[in-house]
Amino acid sequence: MLVDDHGRTATDLRVSLTDRCNLRCSYCMPPEGLDWLPKPELLTDEEVVRLVGIGVTELGITEVRFTGGEPLLRRGLPGLVAEAAALRPRPEISLTTNGIGLDRLAAPLAAAGLDRVNVSLDTLDPATFRRLAHRDRLADVLRGLEAAHAAGLAPVKVNAVLMRGINDHEAVPLLRYCLDHGYRLRFIEQMPLDAQHGWDRAGMITADEILDRLGAAFALVPEDAERGSAPAESFLVDGGPDRVGVIGSVTRPFCGACDRVRLTADGQIRNCLFATEESDLRGALRAGASDAELAARWRAAVGRKRAGHGIDDPGFLQPVRPMSAIGG
Ligand code: GTP
Ligand code: 5AD
Ligand code: SF4
Repeated sequence: MLVDDHGRTATDLRVSLTDRCNLRCSYCMPPEGLDWLPKPELLTDEEVVRLVGIGVTELGITEVRFTGGEPLLRRGLPGLVAEAAALRPRPEISLTTNGIGLDRLAAPLAAAGLDRVNVSLDTLDPATFRRLAHRDRLADVLRGLEAAHAAGLAPVKVNAVLMRGINDHEAVPLLRYCLDHGYRLRFIEQMPLDAQHGWDRAGMITADEILDRLGAAFALVPEDAERGSAPAESFLVDGGPDRVGVIGSVTRPFCGACDRVRLTADGQIRNCLFATEESDLRGALRAGASDAELAARWRAAVGRKRAGHGIDDPGFLQPVRPMSAIGG
């Protein structure tokens, strides 16, 4: 098991497969992109499979989520999903994606064993999409969502980050759209994880504001169901059964119940999105470490996980890696 010094157990492994992306969402990346990781530093498919296998069979990982950058850009993705699905005990397998390419890949990924997807969708307006993501791809994302739904990757979850003066007038239309299409929408507070270090607290649309905006059009009632380690607070919409989620990472942190650990595309264990240190599994693996040695290193890395993200601490420093290189 992966237990930290505060008594939390990590069971949810988030595997970043690439730091590259075909969008440039402003809360994540500058329009010109970033210096991508050099190919030799990326874990190969075989190395990913070995490490995920150690996580599942020796360390108690029960959920494997593939992320990026944009994980659909990784050619080996269906094979990686199939390898993860062949592990015993079989983990739940999910994907966090911007949706571009999902129109083509949803069915093969479902056939390979993918259980569900989370797709980012911040706006329904093509011009706002271009402004926010610096690419003209809204139609591709909407097609991707439909394909995921049709392929039975349920529940299809939609992630929306609202930004002041850009898309914060779209909370209600986004929820209507998702309810109409059978997607489960979650609104996310923007976190200081952008490469440009442009985050500021005043620009962030808080969970309270999100709920106010939605409250103008819908009756929202907090769900009683046990939240566990889920980052989203769930609300029944107009009496249910429809729901909407709010992920208040900054103003309503859920660090105390966190069950996550991350493996970056270049083979580093990060025990938190906001970790200031990483543990190098790639170096150890390529130097010939045994499964037991890799597991021991991984356990030690999780053990040191801090109690919380520390965004409100006076000396808070944004992590050196941006979101795209950590995996959301
Ligand atoms: P499920 O609820 O299992 O579908 O996954 P998820 O919501 O964790 O996955 P997803 O990748 O869709 O992440 C959605 C958002 O949750 C991210 O954009 C983050 O804002 C937030 N989030 C995910 N993991 C963490 C974390 O470890 N810490 C914090 N503070 N926020 C996180
Ligand atoms: N703050 C909050 N969420 C973010 N995401 C990317 N960058 C940020 C940020 N700075 C979200 C994306 C995606 C998920 C993986 O993380 O919208 O849905
Ligand atoms: Fe790409 Fe996701 Fe970053 Fe947007 S948030 S630029 S989709 S990695």
